[in-house]
Amino acid sequence: MKTIKWCDGVVVTIDQTVLPLREEWIELRSCMEVASAIKEMKMRGAPLIGVAAAYGMALAAYHSNAKTRREFMRELEKCAEILRNTRPTAVNLFWAIDRIMNKARSSRGSLEDLRRDVIFEALKMADEDVEMNRRIGKHGAKLLSNGDTVLTHCNAGSLATVEYGTALAVVRAAWEEGKRIKVIADETRPNLQGARLTAYELMRAGIPVTLITDNMAGYVMSKGLVDKVIVGADRIVKDGVVNKIGTYTVAVLAEKHGIPFYVAAPTSTFDLSRRSLDVIIEERDPEEVTHIGSVRIAPEGVDVMNPAFDITPLRYVDAIICEKGVLTLKDFQRLIEEV
Ligand code: MRU
Repeated sequence: MKTIKWCDGVVVTIDQTVLPLREEWIELRSCMEVASAIKEMKMRGAPLIGVAAAYGMALAAYHSNAKTRREFMRELEKCAEILRNTRPTAVNLFWAIDRIMNKARSSRGSLEDLRRDVIFEALKMADEDVEMNRRIGKHGAKLLSNGDTVLTHCNAGSLATVEYGTALAVVRAAWEEGKRIKVIADETRPNLQGARLTAYELMRAGIPVTLITDNMAGYVMSKGLVDKVIVGADRIVKDGVVNKIGTYTVAVLAEKHGIPFYVAAPTSTFDLSRRSLDVIIEERDPEEVTHIGSVRIAPEGVDVMNPAFDITPLRYVDAIICEKGVLTLKDFQRLIEEV
């Protein structure tokens, strides 16, 4: 199932805020609508956010009434600015916007050519996302053995990408090769992407999944119930992996129990010129913590912290699985030196 589709000037996507209770497909017709859908997390997950932003710019191009290239570029810049201000942490968003802007700037020919180049680039990025995820799956599947139980955090599946996922691509690929894999999904407070999305999509795929609350991870590891941990990433910087809040806790627990900890992400998630201190960690609405759904669980007026992501230092990471292969920390250091 594709999470996002381009249908002649309309972006169609599944509203992830109402899953798994309702499967609602929504239609987005402007860059503004795409930006709101990203902000409200109707679309979420780093690779999906990137492609969604590219599609947002393609919508601006498709519906533009600009009469000159200059006017068109001004509109595109405005759209880029709106999209850049949606969510600050996943680097894929900025990578995608920059790629579209660079394509537009280097486009030669008529205004029509320019419009077409922007739209084609966005469509190409969506296709590449699927291709990269398939490769991630294929490379990562080699790390899994028949009978393994994989613990994952948040949702790094189809729903976080155009299709197939990153961390869950590894599980899917191993499953498709005939390995009997089981997944333990952390519920992932406060937004519950594990409970709502990972459980939903694995059940749909027929892959066995057991849901736990986040604070059960240590217990299941201590009982020998976890063979490997695989998570996705929102940004991989020189010294760490930025991913959903709670990932760091899982990484430390995995190290304590001698369980391999893998990160699966496309190279569009790599940000090798920055360090973790340079990354803006999104702080979200306190209501996500004080409420579950629409039900208040904390006293009115309590102080709340709600960072949406944390940073796992690289020393806790056994390997990074990307479309190029399985990178050891040494391989990764080499990549950094090349930048
Ligand atoms: O806040 P979200 O749901 O957008 O956060 C998503 C994650 O943290 C994922 O693990 C990450 O984006 C990788 S998705 C392939």
